[in-house]
Amino acid sequence: MWSDLVCGIAEGSCLEGLRLVTGVRMRSGKPRLSAHFRSKVMKVPFLDLQAHHASRRGELADAINQVVDAAAFAGGPFVSGFEADFAGYCETRHAVGVGSGTDALWLALLALGIGPGDEVITVPMTFIATAEAISRTGARPVFVDIEDLTYTMDPAGLERAVTPRTKAIIPVHLFGQMADMEPILEFARARGIAVVEDAAQAHGARYHDQRAGSLGTAGCFSFYPGKNLGAFGEAGAVVTQDAEIAERIRVLRDHGQVRKYDHAALGWNCRMDGIQAAVLKVKLRHLEHSNEQRWKHAAHYARALAGIPHLVLPFADPQRSHAYHIYAIRVSDRNTFMQHLESRGIGCNIHYPIPVHLQKAYVSLGHRCGSFPVAERCAAEFVSLPMYPELTSRQIDAVVEAVAEALSPPVHP
Ligand SMILES: Cc1ncc(COP(=O)(O)O)c(C=O)c1O
Repeated sequence: MWSDLVCGIAEGSCLEGLRLVTGVRMRSGKPRLSAHFRSKVMKVPFLDLQAHHASRRGELADAINQVVDAAAFAGGPFVSGFEADFAGYCETRHAVGVGSGTDALWLALLALGIGPGDEVITVPMTFIATAEAISRTGARPVFVDIEDLTYTMDPAGLERAVTPRTKAIIPVHLFGQMADMEPILEFARARGIAVVEDAAQAHGARYHDQRAGSLGTAGCFSFYPGKNLGAFGEAGAVVTQDAEIAERIRVLRDHGQVRKYDHAALGWNCRMDGIQAAVLKVKLRHLEHSNEQRWKHAAHYARALAGIPHLVLPFADPQRSHAYHIYAIRVSDRNTFMQHLESRGIGCNIHYPIPVHLQKAYVSLGHRCGSFPVAERCAAEFVSLPMYPELTSRQIDAVVEAVAEALSPPVHP
């Protein structure tokens, strides 16, 4: 399966180019097992939501029961209660709960009046929803490459991408690290362009002490179950300091309805469920602690993986507090590497194997291999290791041991 995924991006010269750039090759052939390792194989799932919920089951069940008792299932008081708490957490005046992170992005762009004929700048290294939301407004996504260190939008690329049709910039806080917001905001302010933060992976992250979502015109969050703050299904939110934008999104998420059966605009059904809001309100109380656990695990990984050759570790800018939604390392011969980890019972994943500009869905934009070389190189090298608050030290050690095994140079007799 992995080889299929990798081939998607590696077709043609992309992967060969990558090898020349890095000059790194892994040993090939069957992975060796140290006697020590063979004696104690520990399975480490990529994500363990059961463990995440185990200690909160009672609280969560109580919250769901309250929604059932009140029969407040679509929107309603549980949603407004969560919105108030989440706005407080994000240090914004408003939060509007919606059906998903994709809804959040789409509605934020609609509320800004973006539509056909407009252009919105974003990055090709993201989940496709970022670009999809732009396309669904009728506007055209325009890409700039990412920084090689942080994997977030390279502000140096904006000048080349901007045109008189540019209406917004969507920096993506990839893996939980915020984009370099200062130059992006400055660039946008000087041209009267809105900035919509894609904070789907960055609940609780900070940039110079400011929370993800609070710096741009609007910030969009996903509460997909595996996120740092995850619902028991689909949910999302837009946060903003701007009362007018918040109100427009409230109307748009509910069929453009301003009073019962009085529809002032064409909207859609993008309301948040009461049950999701109740679950999120409980889980929000634990988010800071969960993120602290993620920082500890990232520090453990960084210490233990530091000496291993042929490995690029995540770079955490000290000015940006990383939320470590995903702990992505980079290796050159990813197929062999991932097969090795999987054979040791270590769950791993790829975020994302095909950058958005090379997706079949975006052939019409006319990009090709080489259009955004940093994103393409990362797409060919990224491997996400297990990262969640409930990871134990022993599990991290098992992951590190498997990584070291996979990348250790062959022993010559
Ligand atoms: C960067 C990014 N943007 C947008 C989304 C879309 O969020 P959702 O799946 O809640 O629609 C995601 C979800 O994974 C994401 O990671």
